[in-house]
Amino acid sequence: MEHKKGLFISFEGIDGCGKTTQLELLNKYLKEKNYETIVTFEPGDCEIGKNLRQILLFHKGFVSDIAEMFLYLADRAQHIEEIVNKNVNEGKIVLCDRCIDSTVAYQGYGREKNIEQINLLNEIATKGKKPDLTFIFDADIETAQLRVGKNKDRMEKEGSEFHRKVREGYLQLAKKYPERIKVINANQSIEKVFEDLKKIIDEIL
Ligand code: TMP
Repeated sequence: MEHKKGLFISFEGIDGCGKTTQLELLNKYLKEKNYETIVTFEPGDCEIGKNLRQILLFHKGFVSDIAEMFLYLADRAQHIEEIVNKNVNEGKIVLCDRCIDSTVAYQGYGREKNIEQINLLNEIATKGKKPDLTFIFDADIETAQLRVGKNKDRMEKEGSEFHRKVREGYLQLAKKYPERIKVINANQSIEKVFEDLKKIIDEIL
């Protein structure tokens, strides 16, 4: 893969899978190897996304499933243009905590919304931009729930049946796009998960 033109890598998985820890470890590893990287996330890393994240994760009242989906997509549209494309075009490796696959997994599989429609809406939001590479950190629901702890946001408060469907969604996505998406067993220790991640990255860069 040609990294000098920039690279867009997304990190995915159910809440508590450990992807953010792995993203930080990979960022440190790549910086040590003198790659120019930038860490970013959805929802909420761009300016208007901060407000969207607040609603999405902490709004107390009713949020319709469709409104929720459009808010994630609105954040993505802004984020891709403002942060991802800009940095990829400057030749950086963009490490992104969640992107298009989260909407398919959470809203499509978790909330049981139409996946074909979500694919189209993702296309519109990103103007066709997709991660060059995606890691799915696959953990058991029980293991992941323990890692989330007691202070749960609006999405984390969804029960284990919801998260089971989301996990299944991720595994289906990995089957559908084996070139782009790599699954890593995230039930292992932080060190072992990172070993697996490093193996894949070393082969690519
Ligand atoms: P996180 O920042 O802890 O990963 O939280 C973001 C939450 O939002 C997480 O529960 C997954 C959820 N989410 C969706 O439901 N759809 C999406 O498109 C995105 C980006 C996140």
